[in-house]
Amino acid sequence: CRVQQWDSEEPVPRAELLAGVAGAHGLLCLLSDRIDREVLDAAGPGLKVISTLSVGFDHLALDEIKKRGIRVGYTPDVLTDATAELSVALLLSACRRLPEAAEQVRSGGWTTWKPLWMCGHGLSDSTVGIIGLGRIGQAVARRLKPFGVRKFLYTGSGPKPESAAEFGAEFVPLTRLAEESDFVVVTCALTPATQGMCNKDFFGRMKKTSVFVNTSRGAVVNQEDLYEALAQGQIAAAGLDVTTPEPLPTDHPLLSLKNCVILPHIGSATYATRSTMAVLAARNLLAGLRGEPMPHELAL
Ligand code: NDP
Ligand code: DGY
Repeated sequence: CRVQQWDSEEPVPRAELLAGVAGAHGLLCLLSDRIDREVLDAAGPGLKVISTLSVGFDHLALDEIKKRGIRVGYTPDVLTDATAELSVALLLSACRRLPEAAEQVRSGGWTTWKPLWMCGHGLSDSTVGIIGLGRIGQAVARRLKPFGVRKFLYTGSGPKPESAAEFGAEFVPLTRLAEESDFVVVTCALTPATQGMCNKDFFGRMKKTSVFVNTSRGAVVNQEDLYEALAQGQIAAAGLDVTTPEPLPTDHPLLSLKNCVILPHIGSATYATRSTMAVLAARNLLAGLRGEPMPHELAL
């Protein structure tokens, strides 16, 4: 293969992408590259395969890609453990107020041991609601179970009794999941159906003591509604690994809240996972170029 590489950690500027992709047979992209009709037109009819270094594929115009007979490779499974681990870390950070507490140590706010100071909410005997009991959702439930969770609820496009059996998880409508969960963890894919799904109505149904965690995509959440819910004390806390936009502007209102922990989309960010993802993405690309079965091809 002749390889034309954007050799930088920064995203390729749109104009460079459009110029660079012209005539390519394969394209290896990141989740920050929007691959739409304009990019496909710029590539031309020779484009056979797109390989994304991600399991999420909401940045790809799949209808248009399918219409043109282009194959898509992606990176499921290999990042499930890392992302589930980060989801649990974020949940614990938010519910036990870790960044806020650590800041108190630095700023001199820690004066003595006080009975109710820096109290949060624990997982013991709790109900956890998982939005999207897929690969990552199940891996989160598996990790949370030993913390003494009493009940798992989940929602999605339909019940998945085989996946749910391991946790005794109950399939419920989104409204019931919001009302009954002490912790809500969002691990679904971003689709037209899930876009803006966690909104004013959703947060309004949650308990005042409950904690919301999102490690899927920022656009699943209506951030204005989340801000109101956190600021008004309608919910206790939130942990977000994903936002709209990314990066979140440093003057964004959510960043002014003590009860909101925000991370810069690091769910899969372990050295080993990113390395495995990179190799898988390259293998997907090469298989697509050769017309062979890909290690992980997205069914279009
Ligand atoms: P899966 O395809 O295994 O799981 C996606 C889940 O989304 C499925 O269980 C699906 O449920 C659910 N879903 C689809 N539609 C809805 C809906 N309307 N309501 C509720 N749930 C729905 O994917 P993964 O678990 O591997 O990854 C999930 C997502 O996590 C990715 O798409 C990506 O956006 C994000 N991600 C984020 C990372 C990060 O760094 N923060 C790292 C890796 C992934 P059903 O089967 O019932 O349709
Ligand atoms: C994905 O793969 O979709 C994540 O967001 C980054 O690993």
